[in-house]
Amino acid sequence: MAHEVRAVVAREKGQPVSVETILVPDPGPGEALVRVQACGVCHTDLHYREGGINDDFPFLLGHEAAGVVESVGPDVEDLAAGDFVILNWRAVCGTCRACRRGQPWYCFSTHNATQKMTLADGTALSPALGIGAFAQKTLVAAGQCTKVDPRARPEAAGLLGCGVMAGFGAAVNTGGIGRGQSIAVIGCGGVGVAAIAGAKLAGASTIIGVDIDPRKLATAERMGATHTVDSRDVDPVEAIRELTGGHGADVVVEAVGRPETYKQAFYARDLAGTLVQVGVPTPDMRIELPLIELFGRGGALRSSWYGDCLPSRDFPMLIDLYLQGRFDLDAFVSETIGIDDVEAAFEKMHRGEVLRSVVVL
Ligand code: APR
Ligand code: ZN
Ligand code: ZN
Repeated sequence: MAHEVRAVVAREKGQPVSVETILVPDPGPGEALVRVQACGVCHTDLHYREGGINDDFPFLLGHEAAGVVESVGPDVEDLAAGDFVILNWRAVCGTCRACRRGQPWYCFSTHNATQKMTLADGTALSPALGIGAFAQKTLVAAGQCTKVDPRARPEAAGLLGCGVMAGFGAAVNTGGIGRGQSIAVIGCGGVGVAAIAGAKLAGASTIIGVDIDPRKLATAERMGATHTVDSRDVDPVEAIRELTGGHGADVVVEAVGRPETYKQAFYARDLAGTLVQVGVPTPDMRIELPLIELFGRGGALRSSWYGDCLPSRDFPMLIDLYLQGRFDLDAFVSETIGIDDVEAAFEKMHRGEVLRSVVVL
């Protein structure tokens, strides 16, 4: 029997989203039905609405979510009704070439639910990042549910499902930042600030936040930046070098997704340093660099997909640190809103007023 629930749907490219009644099937083999408790509003949801991801309208938006498993498919063994879970958008397959060589965080064949959620008239919905969690209930692959300590507040926990994990993992997993090292983070939105918090937890001694918005720099400082740079006023490459003994940072995280900030990150590294790109560019963007500089500066130019995370390893660990008061996930929750307020939240995000608005369902 399908479940009738309220959900946020993007029906047409560039048009405001609408709250609609959708039909969510009972879970089949390998699937889980989740009662969503909270779901953060992310740029990617807006990109879907703008047609920037693909043209498979209508989309069921929302993908940074936590909730409680309502029921599971017949063959699902490691998940049960009542489990508190964070949803992830990379349920690893275990058998693709990345998984087989022991790098499951790159999995090239991740799982989603096989049945479709639909509009009331039967039109199939495309769930954002294979999740679709601006809905009272959603259907996902069982592997997309990661069990965590139920004492965590859903509004905060859900944010680990996307942006916070991406930023944290960019610094810690992809960048390998560690004790005593220096890091600069260009772009201090939700993703960049999570990278800063990760670097602090990992023991980095110099943590430089760079942004063009003083409000974001204030947040960066609160979350662990030891220095901030307003790159409207000064050349961030020079500033980062000055703050690191004239050398540049061991790791620079690019968390904007633009060619000019990528170039800044490239030149702000120390010799043999690491650049981590976690900001997502648009397909038209280009970058030109002298090839000799790529060779001569050495080190690593890496991109970070979803913070190179393994949800089963990273989500429970970060929730434990959160519950111990060592990782302030609550600081990412700028406001909680209702399911009817997603359009307004897109505007606040656009104006840079929030780290995350979180829909409570
Ligand atoms: N230099 C420095 N900072 C900049 C610049 C710039 N030229 N342009 C924008 N910024 C800052 C903004 O002021 C903002 O604080 O970058 C930040 C971007 O943050 P958000 O818009 O909140 O986005 P966020 O959710 O953090 O995601 C950042 O990571 O995963 C990707 O798709 C995501 O590309 C996006 C990026
Ligand atoms: Zn795989
Ligand atoms: Zn997201």
